[in-house]
Amino acid sequence: MKTYIVGNWKMNLTVGESSIYLQKLLKRIRPTKGLEIVVAPSVIALQPLGIQLGRAKSKIKLCVQNFYHRDYGAYTGEVSVTQLRGLVDYAIVGHSERRYVFGETNKDLKQKVAAAIRNNITPILCIGETENERNFGETADVLRDELFGALSEIDADDVKKVIVAYEPVWAISGTKGAKIAAPDDVAESINLIRNELKEIYGKEIAEEVPVLYGGSVNPNNAGAYLTIPGVNGLLIGGSSLISDHFVDIIELAKRIRS
Ligand code: PGA
Repeated sequence: MKTYIVGNWKMNLTVGESSIYLQKLLKRIRPTKGLEIVVAPSVIALQPLGIQLGRAKSKIKLCVQNFYHRDYGAYTGEVSVTQLRGLVDYAIVGHSERRYVFGETNKDLKQKVAAAIRNNITPILCIGETENERNFGETADVLRDELFGALSEIDADDVKKVIVAYEPVWAISGTKGAKIAAPDDVAESINLIRNELKEIYGKEIAEEVPVLYGGSVNPNNAGAYLTIPGVNGLLIGGSSLISDHFVDIIELAKRIRS
């Protein structure tokens, strides 16, 4: 299984700044077998960054942060994954900011996962409990609900094309009063997610689904999260905006893998 290091830039960096960042990254990283490096810039930067990458497309993959589930049509202001084919390899689906700021529901996310798979783009499905849900002991229920809310119509063949990211909302740096998640707590939730996948799809298939961790990851704590059994990579927000930090995390992932 590959290790995935994904940088989610959210609504940050202009097209010019994104291009300078990518240049720095291209200079500093070497392709490493088994390590997949992915960046999710703003949608307006995807095309220029795709051109800038050129043949280096195998070194760094592009990811879209959001899209609409229909392929074409009268949906003013939306972008579909059909339009993004050939430009991105990955698409974030169900990030907590989409769920809580923009009101996306499991029904929307189910359609998005299906649209991404239909268009040969790997969905990175984010799931995670809020602080309240955690305090009320609802973590397992929330994870199950968000996982199968989005995957209920995905069969065993297609679930292998999905990446799941566990992102406890209370640990995401953009959340007010965010806390750093203890690796033991993360391990517990990762285990839960893997067991849920096993129950529905069987052990063999469940083990083929990469599960990432995300939430206040930085160069100092990345190693602890990456070495949790069953964690296949990281989804990084704030720290991925600083290219030196992102490179440090990539280097760390390389060392852990080798
Ligand atoms: P963070 O964001 O690393 O800034 O906490 C992670 C995410 O929201 O994907």
